[in-house]
Order: sequence, then structure tokens, then C-alpha cells
Amino acid sequence: MKKYMLILTIVFLPFISPSLSFGGGNFPDLPGKTKMIEKCNTCHGLNSISRSKRSAKEWHKLIGQMKDYGLEITDEELKTVIDYLTRCCGKD
Ligand code: HEC
Repeated sequence: MKKYMLILTIVFLPFISPSLSFGGGNFPDLPGKTKMIEKCNTCHGLNSISRSKRSAKEWHKLIGQMKDYGLEITDEELKTVIDYLTRCCGKD
């Protein structure tokens, strides 16, 4: 399964990279960025994310809403994405 993910990442990297510079211009290069984009750039663009500032708790709640919309995310990925979002788009 891990191998499969690795292959997927390698295969899709060229497709992910342009979208990093295209849609992710406002997002700092911190750990978790790729994961966030992978998880959050599918149903809508990243603009709706970069516009909002939320605390970790609020991000947690919001991503719960995204799950209702159909987001599939493991607990570990959730942690990575929330860590990233609170750093890039957290409340001071
Ligand atoms: C399965 C589809 C789907 C995925 C995946 C998804 N979203 Fe959403 N998201 C929606 C829908 C539907 C809305 C509401 C309509 C809209 O604003 O486009 C929304 C709206 C939002 C909004 C605006 C809500 C507001 O009230 O300000 C934010 C911020 C957001 N999503 C963040 C995220 C983040 C962060 C992720 C990744 C963890 C994510 N979304 C992944 C479907 C999704």
C-alpha cells in the first residue's frame, strides 16, 4: 500500500507542481503543503482557503464539514493538514 502511494506521488508530481505555483501562490512552503493541496484542491480551488483565517479548532470543525461534502482523509492526514493550515492561515 505504501509503495502504491509512493508510485502515485511520483506519477502525479508533475501534475501537482504546476498547480502549486498556479493556485497556491499565497501558501508558504511549510511541511504539509502538498498534502493540503492534494486534499483540498479537488472540489474547489484554494482561493476560498487562503481567504480565511481560523484557529486550529475552527479548521478542525471546517474540515469536518468538508468530510460531510465527501472529503476522504485519514486521521494522520487530517493532523498534517490542520498543522499546515494553522501555520499558514491561523489566527494570531
Ligand atoms: C468533497 C469536496 C470537498 C473537499 C475535498 C474539500 N471541500 Fe471545502 N468546500 C466544499 C464545498 C461543497 C464547499 C461549499 C461551497 C463552496 O464554497 O464552494 C466548501 C467550502 C469551503 C470553504 C469556505 C467555507 C466558508 O464558510 O468560508 C473553505 C475555507 C474550505 N471549503 C476549505 C477546505 C479545506 C481546508 C479542504 C481540505 C481539507 C477542503 N475544503 C476540501 C467541498 C469540499
